[in-house]
Amino acid sequence: MRPAAFYKIIPGLFLFAVVIYSCNDSGKPVVMSASTFDTSRLWVGWNKYHIPEGDTLARYGHELISNTSYYLGPNGTVAQITNGMNCQNCHLNGGTVPWGNNYGAVASLYPQFRARSGGLETIVKRISDCMERSLNADKVVDSTSKEMKAIIAYMNWVGEGIPKKIKPKGSGIMDIPYLDRAADPQKGQLVYVSKCQRCHGADGQGQKKLDETGYEYPPLWGDHSYNTAAGLYRLSRFAGYVKNNMPFGEVEYHNPQLSNEEAWDVAAFVNSQPRPSKFFKEDWPDISKKPFDHPFGPFADGFGEEQHKYGPFKPIIEARKKQRK
Ligand code: HEC
Ligand code: HEC
Repeated sequence: MRPAAFYKIIPGLFLFAVVIYSCNDSGKPVVMSASTFDTSRLWVGWNKYHIPEGDTLARYGHELISNTSYYLGPNGTVAQITNGMNCQNCHLNGGTVPWGNNYGAVASLYPQFRARSGGLETIVKRISDCMERSLNADKVVDSTSKEMKAIIAYMNWVGEGIPKKIKPKGSGIMDIPYLDRAADPQKGQLVYVSKCQRCHGADGQGQKKLDETGYEYPPLWGDHSYNTAAGLYRLSRFAGYVKNNMPFGEVEYHNPQLSNEEAWDVAAFVNSQPRPSKFFKEDWPDISKKPFDHPFGPFADGFGEEQHKYGPFKPIIEARKKQRK
């Protein structure tokens, strides 16, 4: 080999050595301590092919998240409790996508205190929450069931390598800048027609798979969609999720198609359409802790339901800051 050619491959060899050094037997990164974990870098989860073959519980957990309807949907093979959607419809690619509502901070941050319940929440409670709200289930899977254990095993597998108490960058949903005006459902309808309708349907009901085991394109409103107690019913969650991830397959967080205005407006349009209504009386025991875009009163800040639903949100946030002083 000519010396010049050899020098060219040195960086490659070096990189190879670093990769080998920083992986353990399962091919996953070793757990770093909180002080050495780099929170300035965007976290991307490993995909299902990295789940060790012997870890059948985590594999089943991935199955349940990506194919929820097949197991737990209206014609589910294990139970018939959920609305036909999959967890993965909202937690993209098994909850591994940066700003795709991923599961990077689940194993590291739970159990955690949450204002919605006013108490310490376990992973089981948080998973059941999404089942009852986002998947509009009337019953949830038991905490001792194989299904719950499998979903938790998967969450722990996805979150391996992230130290306790650390929230990796890019986990969950991005907060996008507020508008100076209320979000506008009519403007949002125009966005919907031009950018969403071809997959989610003119009637918002999505498109079922040919074998009817679930959806090719999930519904955005109507009987089979998330209910009014779900996270996506809050405008900021919907807008942040959609801006960075929709139209599906065409965008990522760093090359969105929607402007912030379009994201807020389409959120207003979709969330003004009919959907299952559910109310949990135990939610928000301290009403002053309701998020600014939680659209159901009573409120401690003097603003009404309409403004808490559509905005403008800046005055609400300013008023709360003053109250706290
Ligand atoms: C309709 C959309 C939707 C579906 C379907 C859905 N979720 Fe969620 N999920 C959300 C939203 C929105 C949040 C809150 C994200 C935020 O506020 O940053 C969330 C949060 C979570 C969290 C907490 C994440 C964290 O970092 O605190 C877990 C765990 C979770 N979901 C599990 C599930 C499971 C398991 C399923 C399927 C049984 C599921 N979700 C289905 C929308 C959904
Ligand atoms: C090319 C087809 C396509 C287009 C266009 C598209 N989506 Fe989606 N959308 C999908 C698919 C597929 C999923 C589920 C992804 C998965 O399961 O991996 C999804 C999921 C969603 C979800 C979460 C699940 C649910 O049903 O609540 C929302 C919200 C959503 N899309 C909103 C929108 C909005 C708003 C637009 C327009 C700005 C849009 N989508 C454009 C295909 C599309």
